[in-house]
Amino acid sequence: MYFTAQIISFMKKILFVCLGNICRSPLAEAIFLNKVREKKLQHHFLADSCGTANYHVGHTPDPRTIKNAFSNGVTIHHVGRQLHKGDLEVFDVILAMDESNLSNILRLPKADEYRDKIKLLRTYDPERNDDSVPDPYYGTEKDFQEVFEILDRSMEHLLQELTGDTGNI
Ligand code: 4NP
Repeated sequence: MYFTAQIISFMKKILFVCLGNICRSPLAEAIFLNKVREKKLQHHFLADSCGTANYHVGHTPDPRTIKNAFSNGVTIHHVGRQLHKGDLEVFDVILAMDESNLSNILRLPKADEYRDKIKLLRTYDPERNDDSVPDPYYGTEKDFQEVFEILDRSMEHLLQELTGDTGNI
């Protein structure tokens, strides 16, 4: 899809942040964009993801994440990148996967000025029993599926909040 600079300036920009940017956050980005497309809201939202660490800069998502996403009908297109202080200004909503990611984001220079837009993603999960999206990196297929389900539920509610109850902009 082609967007002019003017359209981009009006779009709401969402950034999903995890540690490595190969499991949780690229999946969050893909699920969010899938729902945006389903609701025909592509002209209203931009999404990206990144990691607080630099271990996987330039890497494609973890094969287990790609496989799990595909089995749930979601395709992922992402190349890993690290969180940068400029992200705080560029993005309107910055969503951390866990408390550790959140505290790393808040350690960026001038993060205090942007505090209101930085949140834990799981606050949007209506079934949450924990504030974090668990890290599946050392886990099993079941853990990847649990992450998918948490993210899927959370994205539904995030989009509802961003669009209002009617689902319209
Ligand atoms: P993510 O998972 O933060 O959800 O992408 C991880 C990916 C890689 C590593 C840790 C967590 N790692 O240690 O390389």
